[in-house]
Amino acid sequence: MDLVTKLAANRMLTSDEFQNLMLTEDATLRAKLFRFAQQVTALNFHNKVYLRGLIEFTTHCQRDCFYCGLRCSNKHAERYRLTKEQILECCKEGYALGFRTFILQGGEDHFFTDNVMCDIIYSIKTLYKDCAITLSIGERSLNAYKMFYDAGANRYLLRHETADSLHYSRLHPPSDSLETRKESLYNLKELGYQVGTGFMVGSPYQLTEYFADDLAFIKKLNPAIVDIAPFIPNKDTPFRHQSPGSLEDTLRLLAILRLMLPHALMPAAATLAALHPNGRQHGILAGANEVTPNLTPANVRRKYFLYNNQASTQEEKAENLRFLNAQMKNMGYELCIDRGDYVPETTP
Ligand code: 5AD
Repeated sequence: MDLVTKLAANRMLTSDEFQNLMLTEDATLRAKLFRFAQQVTALNFHNKVYLRGLIEFTTHCQRDCFYCGLRCSNKHAERYRLTKEQILECCKEGYALGFRTFILQGGEDHFFTDNVMCDIIYSIKTLYKDCAITLSIGERSLNAYKMFYDAGANRYLLRHETADSLHYSRLHPPSDSLETRKESLYNLKELGYQVGTGFMVGSPYQLTEYFADDLAFIKKLNPAIVDIAPFIPNKDTPFRHQSPGSLEDTLRLLAILRLMLPHALMPAAATLAALHPNGRQHGILAGANEVTPNLTPANVRRKYFLYNNQASTQEEKAENLRFLNAQMKNMGYELCIDRGDYVPETTP
């Protein structure tokens, strides 16, 4: 049995097999991987691509991750915070455009205390009852996760970044721990969130064998959302001279993940579009099924700078939904404005 057939049947491979599939130069096997991933996506999602509105509400961050432009040591980062009123204005605009999921994303900024976050979440949910809220605000206490959930948050994105602890320590200061990160993810899941995790493809010091560890961790966590995208260096970070991640690796990993977790929600992240002009389309064809246009007000958007070359592409801007719609249609996919919650597989 070839590796793709085996992966589709078992939804898992051994570490060596994963590495072989990532490295194979067998064009037939590669084509089969993408064909199978597309078939599984079509079967489970009927080629619907879910729309999520991204609201980047703060660039302040207390962390110092070596790869990220928002790291607190970066004196060149332009810092801003949106007010609650500005966030609600983003939601109003987004709602009118058809968005039914809002992703509140920001640095780890404790100006937004747990209570302030709850107030924002509750206010959005009161005004837009049929919408889902996704939080992407880094690590908080277990109690905070619970408070946010009770206030109405539905989903939580927290990439594990790498499942290898040595690698984790080469990407983060010693105060950060992979164990704490993993614990947060299990806690969030336990609380009832649709949890998202993931990692950067091609981050500095990453080895092919780490991919197998990342995939095994994701398999074990069994998250609702898997968010992987290429690393892109930021000129104001210690990784300024490192090379960006590979499109091919990212696409293979998306396809592998689609076969491992047929029901997962997987964004075709903005970083894919920043890496390659057709990156987003390639991502969708490899098994991704979400797009996340930006609802952040245009005057601050350029300041949210995790990596270089982030300048919004046409389809990145929420205003250009029609363009995105046409792009999806051309590929045989349909932009879908449903809330698009994760629907776990029912065991027969
Ligand atoms: N390139 C790509 N992704 C990055 N992130 C942070 N910095 C970069 C970068 N330079 C990702 C991290 C983080 C998410 C919010 O953004 O994976 O979890």
